Amino acid sequence: MGSIEQTYIDRTPLSAAMGPRALKVMPAGETRAAGYHSPYPLTLSHAKGHTLTDIDGNDYLDLSNNFTSLAHGHAYPPIVDAVSRVIGAGTAWPARNNTQIELAELICSRVASIDLVRFCNSGSEANMLALHVARTHTGRHKVLMAKFGYHGSHEVFEAGFFGNEGEKYWPHTIVAPWGDADAFEAVLAEQGDEIAAVFLEAAMGSSGLVGAPTEFFQRVIDATHRAGAVFVLDEVITLRMSEGGHQASLGITPDLTTMGKVIGGGYPVGAVGGRADLMNYLDPGRGKIFHSGTFNGNPVTTAAGIPSLGHLTADRIATMAAQAERLDTAMAASAAAVGLPYSSRRIGSLINVYFTPEAPPANLLRSDAAVMRSVHLAGMNHGLYFASRGLLVLSTVLTDADIDEAAERFASAFADAAREHA
Ligand SMILES: Cc1ncc(COP(=O)(O)O)c(C=O)c1O
Repeated sequence: MGSIEQTYIDRTPLSAAMGPRALKVMPAGETRAAGYHSPYPLTLSHAKGHTLTDIDGNDYLDLSNNFTSLAHGHAYPPIVDAVSRVIGAGTAWPARNNTQIELAELICSRVASIDLVRFCNSGSEANMLALHVARTHTGRHKVLMAKFGYHGSHEVFEAGFFGNEGEKYWPHTIVAPWGDADAFEAVLAEQGDEIAAVFLEAAMGSSGLVGAPTEFFQRVIDATHRAGAVFVLDEVITLRMSEGGHQASLGITPDLTTMGKVIGGGYPVGAVGGRADLMNYLDPGRGKIFHSGTFNGNPVTTAAGIPSLGHLTADRIATMAAQAERLDTAMAASAAAVGLPYSSRRIGSLINVYFTPEAPPANLLRSDAAVMRSVHLAGMNHGLYFASRGLLVLSTVLTDADIDEAAERFASAFADAAREHA
């Protein structure tokens, strides 16, 4: 075992001790594949602002922000206030509430393509619901998505994520390479009459923060419409990229948009929004789709979502993007100083780092997995928390001084990793 891993183990004995207990009652002792990493994940105890604290009392500068769901760090006072106001008034009501209307108004006013919104409880649910709408509209079953695209935990979409299209359990999923408009057009020309919906992330998140130009999206949208199918843009991660979502930056108009994460301010959330004629399949009075959910639009989530989204202003979005550039530039310099290859992809407040001379194409397997693992564990040893796949997520509560502190900690982590992989 390398010294980085030994240091991690030495400083987290209470987290380690939680492992056997968790293993007895949960597969791998976990509830979430993305949070799992070896030798064992931390057990966290609390968080405030940009700081996460584990049960051993170690503090971490949080550059994960719960995989993009927190725009303003932890326990953001306006969210705490909004939730506190609601919590004493009862939190699970059997009928409509004010905050869900206000959050829906906010979403409709920010995102030009959205006439109507329906809330659910996760981004995965939002994509399942969008598919349901598309299937109802078209009377077709198949889904076309990007290979290695991620639209949440559901077998229809996981087939594409793992590239297992068309196999026995996923007969309805077709995949085409990300960014390849010709390939999407060809599938839609050949099998379009069986395809209910085309799903694309506005930028691939889980497969390495890979963007694509407007032309790619527009050609796919046009081909989708020629085939009579529905185009769904997954903005679960990317809604934070501009006030109007990443679709505003790209200048595209999806039929349906799926959302999650930031619109819930740290509480479980998902939503589908889009064109009124499609969204109206969800109108119970018209009887096409019975979509319910005990916690849909619940008062706590929607109260938290209003400041979370509302305070994500163009200025703050621009500041985070500038800070991401500052951090990325500093990391490139400190990697070079210790002879570690470094590349990255950056979109707005997000950075995905690689320890190869060039960032690879969208992919699940990384050739630099061993170095990435060392940097991840060494990062934690130096008080940094970020996703083990190298995704860094900024928040509005980070100052330039925090960014410089993060850069210094990365420099120490890179030095450790370079020693271990010399
Ligand atoms: C692009 C994208 N779509 C959907 C989801 C699923 O959202 P949730 O984890 O809330 O189910 C995620 C989660 O990371 C995501 O990144």
